[in-house]
Amino acid sequence: MVEAALQPADRSLRRPGRLAKALARRVLVPLLGRRDLLLVKRRPFDPGLRAEGRDAPCFGYTMIGLRRLANIRHCVEDVLARSVPGDLAEAGVWRGGAAIFMRALLAVHGVTDRTVWVADSFRGLPAPASPQDGDDFSQHAYLRADRRQVMANFQRFGLLDGQVRFLEGWFKDTLPTAPIERLAVLRLDGDLYSSTLETLRSLYDRVSPGGYVIVDDYHAYEYCRRAVTDFLRERGLAPALTTIDWAGVYWQVPGP
Ligand SMILES: C[S@@+](CC[C@H](N)C(=O)[O-])C[C@H]1O[C@@H](n2cnc3c(N)ncnc32)[C@H](O)[C@@H]1O
Repeated sequence: MVEAALQPADRSLRRPGRLAKALARRVLVPLLGRRDLLLVKRRPFDPGLRAEGRDAPCFGYTMIGLRRLANIRHCVEDVLARSVPGDLAEAGVWRGGAAIFMRALLAVHGVTDRTVWVADSFRGLPAPASPQDGDDFSQHAYLRADRRQVMANFQRFGLLDGQVRFLEGWFKDTLPTAPIERLAVLRLDGDLYSSTLETLRSLYDRVSPGGYVIVDDYHAYEYCRRAVTDFLRERGLAPALTTIDWAGVYWQVPGP
């Protein structure tokens, strides 16, 4: 294994720093992983990167930043204030942070008759169906969080209860037949063209008039943006999209 990591032609051999990194990545990290240990590099906390959700946290519950969390709060509190009927849903939850925040908002406002739907494969992103579908993140261990881990994260905040329901599997299999009647807030964070389009096609019609649709990656990934554009064109819709930050947008579904 060590020999395999040290191919003579490997450019990483030419500089000692690179050699150490290559050894760590190819030998040490897998060895530690087998013992459930993690090698991490300490980085100073950057509040600017965190606010924007650009820091890809190694530890933590969500990768979205403070602005997109504030947007969730705005949308949820607004539908509660206006009594827009329906549940809250996130498609693409990773470690659960944004969905946990949704459940926390219901708790803070004493809401007991709405559910938070938590939809994910709980094994990372699918491989893109084509280059147009998006980048291939399917092998990134960082993007995988299994259901037990996400449930434990809800539990840590005392927020795992009957108002949280999990939809485990690929969106194309779980969302069309999900037992969701009405949504007041639908949040999409599945990155890929197919994941975004499948979610919109399955759930958009269940969003109440006056409710919100949030797309986490609209500005971040051209393929995500294209999925939204194609869906809206397919339906003959032209809502006014509001930019949240460098990545996300949201819009309100027109009232009756
Ligand atoms: C960028 S992460 C979500 C980040 C999360 N919202 C947060 O608060 O940090 C994308 C998630 O979408 C899920 N995902 C993407 N496409 C999917 C699909 N087609 N079916 C099921 N899960 C999918 C992945 O498993 C991953 O957990």
